[in-house]
Amino acid sequence: MRILLTAEQLAEGIDRLADAVRSERAVRPLTVVGVLTGSIVLVADLIRRLDGPVRLSMVWASSYRGTSTTAGSLEMRLDLLPDLTGQEVLLVDDIFDTGRTLEAIVDALGRRGAARVRSLVLLRKSGRAEVAIQPDFVGFDIPDVFVVGYGLDYNGSYRHLPHVASLDPSDIAAVHRIHESGGPQ
Ligand code: IMP
Ligand code: MG
Repeated sequence: MRILLTAEQLAEGIDRLADAVRSERAVRPLTVVGVLTGSIVLVADLIRRLDGPVRLSMVWASSYRGTSTTAGSLEMRLDLLPDLTGQEVLLVDDIFDTGRTLEAIVDALGRRGAARVRSLVLLRKSGRAEVAIQPDFVGFDIPDVFVVGYGLDYNGSYRHLPHVASLDPSDIAAVHRIHESGGPQ
């Protein structure tokens, strides 16, 4: 595993993101909508740097298996959302890869009557976008490598790492050994 962003670099990045959100903040209360499961660490760190009034809600989305996104396989669950009519919404996700997840959720939030939906991601992979929209706030641009940590997973593992790291084939093999045996060897 190779560390791409240390915990210190991530903390500085979240400071910058929170400053940017605060400076562009409209008068209305802000509803932060996090995308489960990858955004939970980011959402927790980000909202503690925002000024109120802030509401928090979560949606769930999943689009990929293993290390690659499968086009057209996006599943979404929006049933935890509060009434968004007239609300200022900040959609928060871990990573902008093809952008299909963000695009689909931004559309869905607009259809639920939000007055404005802006989006924020911790990471954006270069050269991968398949949609016309871009996130309004981006923490870090990274190369096209598969990354884990700070909420991001490989097959459910590594979300707890305090840093962001790229995954080698040996790390992928280790995850499969752990899953097969029920614990590390
Ligand atoms: P998109 O719809 O292709 O932009 O994919 C976004 C989703 O795919 C993210 O919310 C992540 O859950 C997942 N994803 C994309 N790239 C990575 C990665 O490098 N590591 C872990 N998850 C990723
Ligand atoms: Mg995700």
